[in-house]
Amino acid sequence: MVHPIHANVVSWIVIVSLSCLLHGATGQLTFDFYKTACPNVDAIVANVTLALSKRDNVVPPAVLRLYFHDCLVELSLTLYDLGWHWQGCDASILISSTPTNVAERDAADNLSFPQNGFDAIVEAKKAVEAACPAVVSCADILAMAARDVVVFSGGPRWAVPKGRRDGLISRAARVEGRLPASSFNVSQLITLLATVNLSIEDLVVLSGAHTIGFSHCNQFSKRLYNFSSAAKTDPSLDPTLAASLKASCPQVGGSPNTVRGFDATTPLAFDNSYYRNLQNNRGLLVSDQALALDKRTSPVVASLAASQEDFFFAFMQAMVKLGYTGIKTGSQGEVRRDCRAFNARSNT
Ligand code: HEM
Repeated sequence: MVHPIHANVVSWIVIVSLSCLLHGATGQLTFDFYKTACPNVDAIVANVTLALSKRDNVVPPAVLRLYFHDCLVELSLTLYDLGWHWQGCDASILISSTPTNVAERDAADNLSFPQNGFDAIVEAKKAVEAACPAVVSCADILAMAARDVVVFSGGPRWAVPKGRRDGLISRAARVEGRLPASSFNVSQLITLLATVNLSIEDLVVLSGAHTIGFSHCNQFSKRLYNFSSAAKTDPSLDPTLAASLKASCPQVGGSPNTVRGFDATTPLAFDNSYYRNLQNNRGLLVSDQALALDKRTSPVVASLAASQEDFFFAFMQAMVKLGYTGIKTGSQGEVRRDCRAFNARSNT
């Protein structure tokens, strides 16, 4: 007999796959891209990702956020590699800086990533290389690992389309302006995500990733102490939560390393409480809370708050869609041997 949860998972995979096909979203990627060259790649990546997630609870949120930041940077057209290409979900965020290149991960907006997130992908790549050398891209490994950490945290499992190639450029200077800031209002969020073809609904759904993970105090302290000339503390923030955040993040003398969970009660569980928190004025960032306050996004918040199943289904689709951003396929880019370095070091 098929366990009902497994039956659900299987039907989700089928539905997401079908819906991608119907919307033409599979493009040049395929679910069985490594069928011959590395048939067990999903299991190899999952084993490493899950083991490291068990050992260290910063790994799941860090990996999920890495996927988002990798895909969003950067999308101006660049002349290299004999043509014009978009950069996007190309593992450029995993490249380490060298004496001649300050890489994407060292941009100000990426400095808050814990090292363990990067290490998890590097370890997964090592395991994959041991089984099938030089065929699986770091970009695909990151896409699979982002799925695996969601599953580990209690979220849905989906099939990851594969066939991305790794990028040949990673520059810190190209990050600025490409990532949403915690202070953004809904118009700014919509405008930024529209540049990568993500809709208003995608914005709300993907923001649900903040159901797991943490934020440093500096990302929300303005809400606590310096909100506006009329109100020192953001009136849209629940007063009990505000008091608790102030205790963790004092105006002076606090540690820059202090973090608070996006979800005050279940910061490691992937569930739809993020949306219910928003409805109760318990969003952590201005950009989170804004989604429940703006009439363009609040209906989506309401529907996802009402149904975890709907959230899970929408999240799988949005993650697959995000994974098509600026991909390289075929002979573009390369398959890196080590996710931290281009194969030819001169390609900086
Ligand atoms: C759309 C607007 C978004 C904004 C303004 C935003 C902003 C932020 C900020 C400021 C942090 C805290 C960083 C820190 O202090 O260490 C954060 C963390 C995080 N973000 Fe976002 N984010 C957005 C969307 C997303 C999306 C789409 C995803 C994934 C699909 C995502 C995944 C995460 C995760 C999982 C964390 C927790 C990281 C950790 O605990 O290490 N975010 N985000």
